[in-house]
Parts: sequence; structure tokens; C-alpha cells
Amino acid sequence: MAIKLSIEDISEINVITKALSVIIRGGDALFFNGELGAGKTAFIKGLCGHLGIDKRLVTSPTFSILHIYNANEPISIVHADIYRLGEGADITEIGLVEYLEEPSFIVMVEWAEFLDAELISSIPHLDIFIGFHSNALPAFYGRNKHKDKNNKDENCCECGYYNCDDHYEDERRRIILDFKKGGWQDREDVFLHQIKKGGIYYERVDT
Ligand SMILES: Nc1ncnc2c1ncn2[C@@H]1O[C@H](COP(=O)(O)OP(=O)(O)OP(=O)(O)O)[C@@H](O)[C@H]1O
Ligand SMILES: [Mg+2]
Repeated sequence: MAIKLSIEDISEINVITKALSVIIRGGDALFFNGELGAGKTAFIKGLCGHLGIDKRLVTSPTFSILHIYNANEPISIVHADIYRLGEGADITEIGLVEYLEEPSFIVMVEWAEFLDAELISSIPHLDIFIGFHSNALPAFYGRNKHKDKNNKDENCCECGYYNCDDHYEDERRRIILDFKKGGWQDREDVFLHQIKKGGIYYERVDT
């Protein structure tokens, strides 16, 4: 069973990424999936901050596809966003396979679902899904809501009333980490201990 964390506020990302930074080590791979704008980059930024990287350096590699940051010696972080490469992404050109095999690198991939299925199953990794709290909400939910609070033309996706409390103000996210699939079982207890200490609500869910 996977761990589902419910977060009410973006500041809780800091607690969760701190907990993950305690168990992460060189040679690890983190595969991120989840809706557009759900917070994959924000999560990686938080995590990198706890690994000794200046968070201002951590930005979305949407166009460059791959960023490398130097963490606490001798570890470097590879941050990739393969969305632009699309289905069956050819990652040989960007050298991702080599980084995945290198013990001094921690590799974090946004939109990992686009990786070749064979590669996904052959590389031990932690699966992290980040989504909005309710599946019923469309993908643009969360993205547009703070664009222009005074623009009454930007109607709420659900009830049509702009900036309604029920829909636009809800920023809750769910983060699902699957420790069982990627051989991370041994690290789950330490992670959960940190999560409890940080006061984050969690439950176990089937994936
Ligand atoms: N947990 C959160 N609560 C509230 N706002 C958040 C949260 N996580 C991210 N955000 C905000 O949502 C916006 C999009 O986040 P981010 O770029 O991290 O998403 P993403 O999943 O990486 O998107 P993409 O699929 O385009 O790469 C940012 O403005 C960010 O500050
Ligand atoms: Mg992103």
C-alpha cells in the first residue's frame, strides 16, 4: 500500500520534503507524475533546499529538459522535465540513463510516465504522484484561480461564480508515495516517523 499525504497549505511541502531528505541518498531516482501545475516542481525545489542547494537555482526545466544542481558534496541532483519529449520519450540524447546509473547523482524526473515502460520497470525508484485534492476538478483548477481576483469574467469551473469559496479557494493537494514498488520499503518507517513529527496527516491507500 502507498502512503497518501493530504496537504492544506504549500508550507507543508517543506515538512514533507524535509522528511524525504532524511532518507534520500546518492544513486536514488524519484519519478514524479501528476496533473499540470499540481506542484511537482515546487516539491523538487523544497527537497533540493534540504539537500544543500540554493532553492533560487531550482526552476522548472520545461524548455531545457534537464537541470543539474550541486548538492552537498559529492552528490549532484539531476532535475528533468520530460513533458516536451512526450510519449516514449527518447532520453538517451539528454544522458538521463547514464545519470540514473551513477551513484553520485540523485535523479528527479517530472512526467516520468513518458519514460519507456521497460526503463521504468528496470530502474529502482520512488514513485511520487502529486494531484489536486479532488479528482472531480479539471486540470486548470488551481492554475488560474489567483490570476486576477478582480476579473469577474474568469468564472469558476464548477458553479460559474468567480472566486467562490468552495472551489477557487481550495488549494489542497494530495501526494502519494509508493515505497513498496521501488524497493524503498526499508525507508518507509523513518519517513513516516518524520511525517508524524511534522504533524502531516497521512493514510495508506491502494494504488
Ligand atoms: N501544495 C501547493 N499548494 C498551493 N500551491 C501550490 C502547491 N504546490 C505548488 N503550488 C503552486 O502551483 C503552481 C504550479 O506548481 P508547479 O510548477 O510546482 O507545478 P508542476 O506540477 O511542476 O507543473 P508542470 O506540470 O507544469 O511541470 C506554482 O505557482 C506553485 O507555487
Ligand atoms: Mg513542473
